[in-house]
Amino acid sequence: MKFYMPTRLYCEKNCVSNHAKEIAGYGTHALIVTGKSSSRKNHSLDDVISALDTCSTSYTIYEGVEENPSVETVMDATCKGIECGADLVIGIGGGSALDAAKAVALMMKNPKKGWEFLYEQVEAQAYPVIAVPTTCGTGSEVTGVSVLTRHDLRTKISMKHKVFPDLALVDGRYLLSAPRKIIVNTSIDALAHLIESAVNTKADYYSLLNAIGGISLFRNARAYIDDMDENARSLDEDAALMLMEISAIAGIAIAQTGTSIPHALSYMLTYEAGIPHGPAVGRFLAGFLEHADSIRKKEILDAAGFESTKSLGEFINRLAPADADTELVERAVKGLLSNEAKLKTCPYHIDEEKLSLIAGL
Ligand SMILES: [Fe+2]
Repeated sequence: MKFYMPTRLYCEKNCVSNHAKEIAGYGTHALIVTGKSSSRKNHSLDDVISALDTCSTSYTIYEGVEENPSVETVMDATCKGIECGADLVIGIGGGSALDAAKAVALMMKNPKKGWEFLYEQVEAQAYPVIAVPTTCGTGSEVTGVSVLTRHDLRTKISMKHKVFPDLALVDGRYLLSAPRKIIVNTSIDALAHLIESAVNTKADYYSLLNAIGGISLFRNARAYIDDMDENARSLDEDAALMLMEISAIAGIAIAQTGTSIPHALSYMLTYEAGIPHGPAVGRFLAGFLEHADSIRKKEILDAAGFESTKSLGEFINRLAPADADTELVERAVKGLLSNEAKLKTCPYHIDEEKLSLIAGL
């Protein structure tokens, strides 16, 4: 077995300001990589700027990372980072901003390389990355993965390199201004990470400690997700921090095992039909768990507080429905059948018939 989690992780109120001095140790000029506006609304950007000022670290801001960031955006941000002489990248936002930040840190450190380098299987260094998540799903703050949109291939593909953030600063307050939809969708993504890590060829005692533990915590958090109104007003700081911690624990789990079939099937739904990542993944989760080893399936359902995979599927469909054309799902299934590496992540026998059952065809 191998358990690798090199990220220093803090989860607490006022996390960024509490650890401002640590930030200074990672670089002299930071490139802040963030989305279009949410980091201004939830004050995470203000907190990071104030922490950088405290430790006299200069910075440049790259705003505008889109949902499901493209390789083109990564290269654009890389140019800006090289121009300003940055030697540290701080990602603020949901998984998109954090994934982009990791890829940018890699490309900035290898300035003579073109975008194809993202997909070359070679040893390479990256500049340090600090992650400040503001949603509760991807766990990108504690994984080395960066999933990027490849417009040339009309889907999303992870870069080949693993770039773990050096430091992750998690504060539940940043989640409080997010709309209900974002919180629900990203929570379903975290649940998918936990289940896909637990039902995985690479699962071992250590990854399962995180995966099953995270699923038990998810059970406690279900009421918060269910009770939220459109503006998530019923969510308090403690509940928000709990959701973000579930996401981080799920991230630690998939950092060991990777994801499996639901994630692989989801990417085409997101690219072709614009279905957000959480619902797209959630669409396949109950079907995937249904065919798992019966002991592991029961362990997961018990931990999550569901009677059956049917009730799990109904829960997901009620909170985060994914309305995808049958023809598109069929294409996703066909595409996955030729992806041997991804099929190998599934611990049970899988063929076209079973994949169709998982996909609900
Ligand atoms: Fe995910």
